[in-house]
Amino acid sequence: MRFKYTVSLVFIVALVIIEKENNIISRVSDKLTPWQTPQTPLPSNVSGLALLKQNGSYSSLSELDSAFMHLKRRLENYTERLEALRGGRKHILLMTTTRTGSSFVGEFFNQQGSNMFYLFEPLWHVERAMTLESGGTNATVSAKAYRDVLEQLFLCDFSLLESFIDPPPVDHITTALFRRESSSSLCEEPVCTPFVKKVFERYHCKTRRCGPLNFTLASESCHQKEHRAIKTVRVRQLETLRPLVENPLLDIKFIQLVRDPRAILASRMVAFSAKYKNWKKWAVDGDVPVDDDEVKKLKGNCDNVRMSAEVGLRQPAWLQHRYMLVRYEDIARYPMQKAAEMYRFTGIPFTSQVKEWILKNTQASKEASGVYSTQKNSSEQVEKWRFSIPFKLAQVVQKVCGSTMKLFGYRFVNNEATLLDKSISLLEEKTFTFR
Ligand SMILES: *[C@@H]1O[C@H](CO)[C@@H](O)[C@H](O)[C@H]1NC(C)=O
Ligand SMILES: *[C@@H]1O[C@H](CO)[C@@H](O)[C@H](O)[C@H]1NC(C)=O
Ligand SMILES: *[C@@H]1O[C@H](CO)[C@@H](O)[C@H](O)[C@H]1NC(C)=O
Ligand SMILES: *[C@@H]1O[C@H](CO)[C@@H](O)[C@H](O)[C@H]1NC(C)=O
Ligand SMILES: *[C@@H]1O[C@H](CO)[C@@H](O)[C@H](O)[C@H]1NC(C)=O
Ligand SMILES: *[C@@H]1O[C@H](CO)[C@@H](O)[C@H](O)[C@H]1NC(C)=O
Repeated sequence: MRFKYTVSLVFIVALVIIEKENNIISRVSDKLTPWQTPQTPLPSNVSGLALLKQNGSYSSLSELDSAFMHLKRRLENYTERLEALRGGRKHILLMTTTRTGSSFVGEFFNQQGSNMFYLFEPLWHVERAMTLESGGTNATVSAKAYRDVLEQLFLCDFSLLESFIDPPPVDHITTALFRRESSSSLCEEPVCTPFVKKVFERYHCKTRRCGPLNFTLASESCHQKEHRAIKTVRVRQLETLRPLVENPLLDIKFIQLVRDPRAILASRMVAFSAKYKNWKKWAVDGDVPVDDDEVKKLKGNCDNVRMSAEVGLRQPAWLQHRYMLVRYEDIARYPMQKAAEMYRFTGIPFTSQVKEWILKNTQASKEASGVYSTQKNSSEQVEKWRFSIPFKLAQVVQKVCGSTMKLFGYRFVNNEATLLDKSISLLEEKTFTFR
């Protein structure tokens, strides 16, 4: 009786394992592009099952043992093959919002070297297309589109992204990729094709004259690189990206970059002058109407950032070893140390090329400028906002983004004098620990 019970229990466990394995295998098979197809195709029926007698009983323990060993070997074999497919490849998503220093931090990965395929803000096209199509974005629909595009891009498949590019690429060729020049992989051989001047056409890379972008070439280059990194300011909720973690072909690491919301507002008022005209008006005269849509939007942004971080910091099983939170202020103060930490977290070599880039770009003199410039004296830049935002706007941010600020360790100011007194730090020393 007891033996029989054990046998059926084992049978159930084995079935569960097989079922799970089949699910993963079929998911993987769906995602495989032709050259990733394993040498020997996976059998559609599971041989382990055949060994288990239909009525779930075994004539001997040794028979059961052998069936079990067989299953175990299959699972081990499968795990090995999956790892061989992934090949130690890492997929990094730098997730943030605008004006957080993300171009600068993105460069940490863009500069890694010939092993890295880096994309700068590919979701720009997705947001734009969805806004034009429906006169506004529906958060649920766009979250799904963002997720699917990211998943494909991490697998070097540009087809979904292409469907969002306007004008649509012809034969996988485009001149319209947003900020192509920010991705060194798209501006170097062999993706940089010779530039043949046509009327009204400009070349698309800063350092080189490259012809239009051929996505077929980009995809080939992506496949040849060991690691892949994407920077985006458009994903609102970390939770929506859970399917990427569950895709066995991806070994994904999320780095959430945050910054003091008061500094973000100050920076946006300069960079997006037209869009922030209400804020600029409130800065000079009158009270800030706290029920204004602009204020609600700010609150919404802060809430999204906080909720994503709360999920990450809670470290649910699906995010273990996959989430890291960094404050821009810490990167600006200790760029080399923070970059090293980020690289340690991703498991990718911190190359001398990155180190040199950081050295060169964090001690820059004042002459470097431009709102999108990454070449700034970073420890000096980080406090500049305190002199460009009036106290009353800082107060509004503190009111609607208070819980976000507390979570990340940004201190409140109670009066203008404190805001302007640089000897008073508005940053709590805080370490975010990760298992
Ligand atoms: C798998 O299925 C095929 C066709 O149904 C059958 O011929 C074969 O024997 C099965 N293999 C195993 C290992 O059960
Ligand atoms: C279970 O299957 C084995 C062999 O297939 C058979 O000998 C045995 O009688 C079956 N037992 C029951 C309870 O059906
Ligand atoms: C793993 O399985 C494949 C296909 O079934 C087989 O060709 C290969 O020899 C197995 N590898 C090992 C190490 O058992
Ligand atoms: C967003 O789209 C989903 C799915 O089409 C729909 O159910 C939902 O009502 C939409 N939400 C808004 C605010 O339009
Ligand atoms: C784009 O690159 C692919 C792969 O090298 C090539 O086959 C194709 O002809 C290129 N397309 C154009 C229009 O040059
Ligand atoms: C960068 O700014 C810091 C803080 O103001 C200053 O100590 C340092 O000398 C500056 N470095 C350069 C190269 O300007």
